[in-house]
Amino acid sequence: MFEHVEPFPGDPILSLVEAFNADARHDKVNLSIGIYYDNEGRIPTLGSVVDAERSLPERVLTSAAYLPMDGLADFRKAVQVLLFGDESLVAESQRVATIQTLGGSGALKVGADFLHRYFPSSTAFVSDYTWDNHVGIFHGAGFKVDRYRYFDKLSKGVDFEGMLSDMLAMREQSIVVLHPCCHNPTGADLTPAQWDRLVSVFQERNLIPFLDVAYQGFGDGIEEDAYAIRAFERAGVKFFVSNSFSKIFSLYNERVGALSVVCKDAEEAERVLGQLKSTVRINYSSPPATGARIVSAVLLDAERNRVWRQEVGLMRERIRGMRQVLRDVVEAKKPDVDLSYLTSQSGMFSFTGLSRERVEMLREDWGVYLLGNGRLCVAGLTTQNVLRVAEALVSVI
Ligand code: LMR
Repeated sequence: MFEHVEPFPGDPILSLVEAFNADARHDKVNLSIGIYYDNEGRIPTLGSVVDAERSLPERVLTSAAYLPMDGLADFRKAVQVLLFGDESLVAESQRVATIQTLGGSGALKVGADFLHRYFPSSTAFVSDYTWDNHVGIFHGAGFKVDRYRYFDKLSKGVDFEGMLSDMLAMREQSIVVLHPCCHNPTGADLTPAQWDRLVSVFQERNLIPFLDVAYQGFGDGIEEDAYAIRAFERAGVKFFVSNSFSKIFSLYNERVGALSVVCKDAEEAERVLGQLKSTVRINYSSPPATGARIVSAVLLDAERNRVWRQEVGLMRERIRGMRQVLRDVVEAKKPDVDLSYLTSQSGMFSFTGLSRERVEMLREDWGVYLLGNGRLCVAGLTTQNVLRVAEALVSVI
């Protein structure tokens, strides 16, 4: 019956975590998966999260009733404020359909399935490079997946003109997956002025933007990192936003995320919401409760929200500090090498440009794990391991 089932070659990110866990070396360093570690090398438990958990009445925590297909109403409201801003007309005008999802991946999957039902012959475009699962999810939903130019290998920044000209050449109603901040895997982001230009191209060309935000607050700040989302909204564009609370709440295994679809008006949003619910129903019926209850109890409480913003700020600053230290140490040891990209790129990741062979040498010889494409998770560096990582890098560049 299963003779034709081919072996799973492994996921480019999750298989490395398995390999890392199986590695017996005590000085191994995991800079592969996008997880934020504190300076002690632990996945932090945020104070705002602990406080929110304590605030939930026991009967809420133990209630086993199903949530609605679209998730917790409070959570959905909190997501809209976080993404679109306190003063957002979008939230007030009810033209956004938001559902709670199984993390950011779940939001992408529901969004992709929904899109495939209504735009089956569209092509989904992802940035070159992108998070591998973007390709997997849109392909899995039935789309042809293609790439638009994004990363400029020479400057280690964005090839903005290339990106624009690829978008101008796309057919109407092409789906374009964008990273509003902290681009994964390159760490190279657009400036606000570039986003403004891009928004007008989307308007002119009638493309379908799908903004995937997993790191709001890890770049320049929680509000600053929402610039692209708010620019699309201000311009009256219809678009999708998938967002994740895994990293910014350090709640990876709770699988908390959301999908928001910005529509023309409240009536359209109501119809879209109905079809999103139907998509959820035939995928997994309804989402889990605890993580979303915690996130709502943080976002909707002024004091906890304030503490959480501070905690995100500290994570952001620690990542920035590690970028600087790694750059300084490597450049001090190898003055002919320019690692300025480490401090100009933003968010959890930097794209080193190292070949697969060199990445393998780092893993084999030093127990330092990067992704095969050369992505380094800066948020895995600590003051204890950064010197060793620098030494390892110096040996391969
Ligand atoms: C990553 O890019 O490493 C993270 O988003 C984790 C994942 O699920 O791939």
